Amino acid sequence: MKKMLILISVLSFCVVTAALAVPPGKILAFDKSPMGTVTFSGKIHKDAGVKCMECHNKEMFPKMKKGTVEIKMAKIYAGELCGVCHNGKRAFEAKKNCNRCHVKK
Ligand code: HEC
Ligand code: HEC
Ligand code: HEC
Repeated sequence: MKKMLILISVLSFCVVTAALAVPPGKILAFDKSPMGTVTFSGKIHKDAGVKCMECHNKEMFPKMKKGTVEIKMAKIYAGELCGVCHNGKRAFEAKKNCNRCHVKK
């Protein structure tokens, strides 16, 4: 019985840390652009006070899974996807700051 309880607490600990380990600790690399890889840091966004639902909603990135939404600059410039915030108001403007997102290797 005691062993069982330990097993259960270890398992639930794993589940909790897996859930928390996702974006704050996670870095996603979008590497399809000729301008250079875009590194998306969950931690930077969390530290800037952005809530999960501000990005994970129907209009933006509905799934918590990489590669489900095709990101194009036309959309960003039009104020969609990353451009909802990267418009010079809430966060730095995409049009003037290519290299804060795109980094060539
Ligand atoms: C600033 C926007 C933003 C915020 C805030 C954000 N995410 Fe994400 N998240 C994304 C994007 C973009 C993706 C990739 C989606 C895609 O490629 O289709 C993603 C992907 C993920 C993934 C999948 C990672 C993988 O490797 O496939 C998980 C899990 C996730 N987010 C969970 C969360 C949780 C939990 C929070 C809140 C703590 C959160 N996200 C906050 C933008 C955000
Ligand atoms: C809900 C608002 C929001 C969305 C959506 C969002 N960001 Fe951000 N992002 C921020 C804020 C706020 C900061 C920190 C303030 C700043 O640097 O202007 C930030 C910072 C960053 C930084 C750090 C740059 C640096 O020089 O420190 C990168 C890179 C970045 N975002 C990329 C992205 C990408 C790529 C997407 C789309 C997948 C995205 N962001 C979507 C709000 C957002
Ligand atoms: C807020 C972050 C961010 C900024 C700033 C940004 N981009 Fe992007 N860009 C992305 C993301 C994310 C992708 C998708 C990459 C992928 O799918 O691998 C992308 C894709 C691209 C692509 C390929 C797809 C397309 O739309 O043609 C080009 C070219 C591009 N960016 C050029 C630029 C240029 C030029 C600038 C500056 C004027 C810029 N980007 C600024 C995030 C950004």
